[in-house]
Amino acid sequence: MKFLKLFLLLFVLQTQAQQGGMWIPSLLKGMNETEMKNLGMKMSVKDIYDVNTSSIKDAVPHFNGGCTSEVISPKGLILTNHHCGYSQIQSHSTVENDYLTNGFWAYKTEDELPNEGLTVTFIVKIEDVTTAVLNGTATLTNEAEKQKKIQENISTLSATLSKENWQENKIRTFYEGNQYMLFVTETFNDVRLVGAPPTSIGKFGSDTDNWVWPRHTGDFSLFRIYADKNNRPAKYSKDNIPYTPKHFLPISLDGIAEDDFSLVFGYPGKTNEYLPAVAIEQIVNELNPAKIEIRDRALKVTDGFMRKDNAIKIQYASKYASIANYWKKWIGETQGLKKSNAVAVKRDAEKLFQQKIIKAGKEKEYGTLLADFEKNYTAIAPYAVARDYFMEIVLRNTEMLSTGYKLYQLEQLYNVRGEQAFNDRRNNLVTGLADFYKNFNAVVDEKVFEQLIELCATKSSKQFLPQSLNNVNAKNLASDVYSKSKLRSYDTLKQLLSGDAKTVITNLNADPGFTLVKELGEIYAKEIAPKYDEINLNITALQRTYMKAQLELNTDSRIFPDANSTLRVTYGKVKGYEPKDATIYSPVTYLDGVMEKYVPGDYEFDVPAKLIDLYNAKDYGPYGENGKMPVCFIGTNHTTGGNSGSPAIDAYGNLVGLNFDRVWEGTMSDIYYDPSICRNIMVDIRYVLFIMDKYAGAQNLINELKLVHSKKKKTVKNNNVKQL
Ligand code: ARG
Ligand code: ASP
Repeated sequence: MKFLKLFLLLFVLQTQAQQGGMWIPSLLKGMNETEMKNLGMKMSVKDIYDVNTSSIKDAVPHFNGGCTSEVISPKGLILTNHHCGYSQIQSHSTVENDYLTNGFWAYKTEDELPNEGLTVTFIVKIEDVTTAVLNGTATLTNEAEKQKKIQENISTLSATLSKENWQENKIRTFYEGNQYMLFVTETFNDVRLVGAPPTSIGKFGSDTDNWVWPRHTGDFSLFRIYADKNNRPAKYSKDNIPYTPKHFLPISLDGIAEDDFSLVFGYPGKTNEYLPAVAIEQIVNELNPAKIEIRDRALKVTDGFMRKDNAIKIQYASKYASIANYWKKWIGETQGLKKSNAVAVKRDAEKLFQQKIIKAGKEKEYGTLLADFEKNYTAIAPYAVARDYFMEIVLRNTEMLSTGYKLYQLEQLYNVRGEQAFNDRRNNLVTGLADFYKNFNAVVDEKVFEQLIELCATKSSKQFLPQSLNNVNAKNLASDVYSKSKLRSYDTLKQLLSGDAKTVITNLNADPGFTLVKELGEIYAKEIAPKYDEINLNITALQRTYMKAQLELNTDSRIFPDANSTLRVTYGKVKGYEPKDATIYSPVTYLDGVMEKYVPGDYEFDVPAKLIDLYNAKDYGPYGENGKMPVCFIGTNHTTGGNSGSPAIDAYGNLVGLNFDRVWEGTMSDIYYDPSICRNIMVDIRYVLFIMDKYAGAQNLINELKLVHSKKKKTVKNNNVKQL
């Protein structure tokens, strides 16, 4: 009986411990370390982050600012998701040489493909600089002045704090302005494409399976970092050599099992875990539905064209995927927030919080916080919706309008800064837009325009609607604009932008595409943005005070800083879940599941013939397990967008998986983390190896890796590199 009680207590502690969280790697000592060890971690936190000797953080660079990658060989080979390398793979693809459809493998380093503009950034060290950043701000009561001073301090510190000349200082805020950390970084810009499976593996299940478990996607691609002769960052040159990393991840062949410890290390982009209930209410009832409706329409149009025309499919594949991704996420998030009663849960917590304020005698400081939130969120609502409409319709989903908006900014630049600035920007635009027009199809865009302008005209409140869209016939307007506007092709655009500034501005103002954008842009600049920014500044200040109050008063709960695209550690266990009554999801999927989903010739669920052969022959090499080939697994690691490509690391510091997604029921984890249903999805690293080795025959790459049996503590192949 006593034992049972003890067991139950331990169980409760264990499950309580699994509350999510994305932690700063330099601050794991203490509470996090204890908890990680309790969950089964065998290494120490110094193995994860250390400034003086190499540690796992040296193998985890930010991939192009939006995803994560990890170094897996002594020759700078990095692994990230297929969807993270998607636009690079796409940009090398043509109808004749279609790497998206067929995959791409460099069997020799000479075949690796350079990617202009692609970067990876390593973290050299992390330091707390809060005191220096807040220096001189204590006496400032005006929010705008305070922010200005903070920005000045940040600029001065970034310019003066010591670093090597090829490195950068970046200062980021944590806990909404309650803490500031310095990151010294190193950015490499010669990063070449090394390998990618065909879409039918790397994006298997496509948008139907996106954000969904059970999942069977081999979402990986390989790149290589190149450096100059001194192993330092350098612009692309054929003389550059493969980068020698400070650390690279050994890869475990032992796989995972339910309840194994797992750690995900990467760059989560943005979360909002500490919002007041009123803000969540607004997301659920207004903002998400508005954005979903806009994207519903845009996606339907584009999908129709892509299914009929292969050239359009290639042109729009990457853009479609990124628009569909958040569209689907918002749907899942809205459902999840409703189902988990997030608003009611937060309201209850807020009641308790209000009591704590009174008990602590802090009414003067914090007493009106929640009421002020209500007031400001109510006030911002119409502006927030109008702003989302503008962002989604003009800047995000209608390509002619988003291009037009760049020209509108060009005109403004001329008005403010004159001819020279105009010429520089114009020349940049002309070069920069060449790539954009390669993937632009005016017929597709016209239909999107028609749909979205109709929505804009019928749903916007009068105050935010341009005159010319009053009672407009969207179809007629679309055909008029797309037949007359010079924004419809690269050639006509170049014509439109040629001549001196005055001529260009006159011509722009005679172009029907431009004038419409200008009207929309002016309404945004005059009627929407100023009011939105003003109220939002209040909300930001309130949120900072609210965060401070929570740090002070909620001492019994664990408060991690919201994601901000900086390096974080999240940890947990490999674990299944119950999505709904009487349904249990196990944590691992197998190649058998790929075959169950197989629809020959289908755009989402086709399977390459070679993979079917390997499946039929059960030719899995050392990567299979009990005659089966594992594909994906899930865990309780708290991740978000930006964690894609993050390494999933086992108790010993070896790579076991590659993070790429979350489960449908748990997509609301950016706002409200529910440990019973929030799971991250990873590709099993053995599936990655199997595809590289057995499917692609890329033994050249397999030979670079360090494969280990971590559970048996044995190195399979040692490339003369010291063990972790
Ligand atoms: N949902 C994942 C993430 O947010 C994967 C997205 C890529 N796949 C897609 N079908 N759009 O990045
Ligand atoms: N798929 C996401 C990414 O690209 C990860 C996530 O949102 O869970 O970063």
